[in-house]
Amino acid sequence: VAHTTQAFPLDDYNVVKITRAGFRSSTVDNVAVTPKVMQLEMDLEQIELGRFDHFMQKEIYEQPASLRNTMRGRLQRQDGKVVLGGLANFAKELTKAKRVTLAAQGTALHAAMIGEYMLEDLAKVPAVAEYASEFRYRNPIIEDGTVIVAVSQSGETADTLAALSEAKDRGALSLGVINVVGSTIARETDAGVYLRVGPEIGVASTKAFTGQVAVLAMITLFMARRRYMSPDQCSRFIEELEAIPEKIERVVQHDAAIRKVAERYCERENWLFLGRGYNYPTALEGALKLKEISYIHAEGMPAAEMKHGPIALISDGMPAVFIANKGRQYDKVLNNIAEVRARGGHIIAVATEGDHEIKKVAEEVLYVPDIV
Ligand code: M6R
Repeated sequence: VAHTTQAFPLDDYNVVKITRAGFRSSTVDNVAVTPKVMQLEMDLEQIELGRFDHFMQKEIYEQPASLRNTMRGRLQRQDGKVVLGGLANFAKELTKAKRVTLAAQGTALHAAMIGEYMLEDLAKVPAVAEYASEFRYRNPIIEDGTVIVAVSQSGETADTLAALSEAKDRGALSLGVINVVGSTIARETDAGVYLRVGPEIGVASTKAFTGQVAVLAMITLFMARRRYMSPDQCSRFIEELEAIPEKIERVVQHDAAIRKVAERYCERENWLFLGRGYNYPTALEGALKLKEISYIHAEGMPAAEMKHGPIALISDGMPAVFIANKGRQYDKVLNNIAEVRARGGHIIAVATEGDHEIKKVAEEVLYVPDIV
């Protein structure tokens, strides 16, 4: 970005020859290809560290701004409408869709799992999130009316690309939820919605994850409004979505308290991350982040799964992070907390602001704003 604002992607089996005089692109058989030159919209500031210690930290703090960008111009609260230009030509197919398969890996898969829950819950379409690496090899059945959604920050993950091709070959409509404009998956899909969260330089996904969830929420509302949802209901969801960046601003202000908890427990070698419903994929994502960044063993799982075996692992003082927001399954989560405490686990609860009761059952409480 410091050197150019123009770039073009090379398609498979294309080559480019660069000389002092210029460049020429062609197929490997030497048939000339006119490059599709893109204008890069990044600026230098986006890829500089600024006041932060490392890019992961910068990208965590960027989330309020990156999410505003993701949603900008796409939500019409007054009319209870979501406008996604990238999907406009396929609105009819999406309205009639019989099944949505979301294929992804790692963090993107966790976002896809939240997408699966939202699509079933709100758009009332059967949905499933799958490891792209499994989907591509398991001879999947693609019925008429299936939509495949490839979720990927880079748009270059080989397994996700292969799963997409597999589903397309079997007749699915393909959508991309991608960050990098012009990436291979973005080019291979029939339609899609870009994350617009800016370049993610840290290897550990942070702002891409929240961007993916936001885009999947918007796709859900886009479909839900055309299927079952009233404009009023939709505007209430839009209102909540629009409030999220400001809520994240409040969360990052607690960084000193969060750091203290991290310091207190950083010597522990085994961690659990537990949640139910929408918070189950969030727990998986928490465990992944701890493994990837701290090289500490962590397991994420649905909170109710604990008692089916894994509870045997809990030793005295073992940290168990519970995503314990107020909500439909709150009481059930409290039961699961009690089970872990009975075995001597130390509870780190991520709870809803104003929930003082939780302090009675948790060694540590980290508060987040309420979200309906
Ligand atoms: O670029 P993608 O989103 O397709 O990458 C998939 C995973 O490799 C990625 O999400 C990875 O799990 C995260 N960077 C981990 O933080």
